[in-house]
Formats: sequence, C-alpha cells, structure tokens
Amino acid sequence: MSKYFGGLVLVMLVLFSAQSCLAKVYTVGDSEGWGPKKVNYFDWANSKKFFTGDILEFNYAKGHTVAEVDNYGFVTCNATNPIFSDDSGHTSITLNTSREYFFISAGPRDCDFGMWFAVYVK
Ligand SMILES: *[C@@H]1O[C@H](CO)[C@@H](O)[C@H](O)[C@H]1NC(C)=O
Ligand SMILES: *[C@@H]1O[C@H](CO)[C@@H](O)[C@H](O)[C@H]1NC(C)=O
Repeated sequence: MSKYFGGLVLVMLVLFSAQSCLAKVYTVGDSEGWGPKKVNYFDWANSKKFFTGDILEFNYAKGHTVAEVDNYGFVTCNATNPIFSDDSGHTSITLNTSREYFFISAGPRDCDFGMWFAVYVK
C-alpha cells in the first residue's frame, strides 16, 4: 500500500467515525416550528441527511400532534393506529434505526396544510 493511499484511508476512517458519533439535533421547521401552512416540511427534510442517533425536536401549539405512522397511515393521513403519538407541545424523537420514518399531525386538515413529511435515516 502506498503512503498516499494509507493516508487517504485514514482520512476516510476519521470522517466516517466523526459522522457516526456526532448525533445532530434538528428542530423541525427550524424557528417556524411544527404548524399548519408554515413550512414545506418535505423540502425541509429533503435538504438534510439523517443518520441513526439524530434527534428530531417538534415544537407546536395545542390541537396538533406528532404521530409517527406507517406508510399506509402516511399516504392516507390516518393517525388512528400510530407507531408513536404525542400532543404535549414539545416532542423529541430519536431516529435510532436506519429506515424510513413517516410523521403526520392528526389535527383536522393538518395534512392538507402541510403537516406531514418523511425522513430516510441512513
Ligand atoms: C384509519 O385507519 C383505521 C385502522 O388503522 C381504520 O379503522 C379507519 O377506518 C381509518 N380511517 C379512515 C378515515 O380511513
Ligand atoms: C428508539 O427511539 C424510541 C423513540 O425515541 C425509544 O422509545 C426507544 O427506546 C429507542 N430504542 C433504542 C434501542 O434506543
């Protein structure tokens, strides 16, 4: 192995471990928070790369929820059978598995008003 190649491998290892160790905390919608007609949450999520261990924080008003649903609950905007649900106004979710997560708010017309998005966690 050449010296150059060995150095490159080392740099890649350092980058990889930095990426997997430093969990990031994301506030959904940034300063706008989680609310109707505020933010395009699809765009918000698509502009980021999520890794296992990252945390999503939701700040929202009464009447809204954070519901993690399955794929079917997502496309039908149905939070009757959520994987997880909270309406406390402040919800923190650790993305601890490499998979797709689907979030909606169960308030009336909340999905119509943009309160739904998916994240793919690497
Ligand atoms: C929502 O899903 C539940 C089952 O999870 C079902 O019983 C209910 O009919 C659904 N509601 C609507 C409006 O589709
Ligand atoms: C994964 O995250 C969920 C929700 O934040 C939590 O309830 C669960 O204990 C976590 N599992 C592990 C293995 O950390």
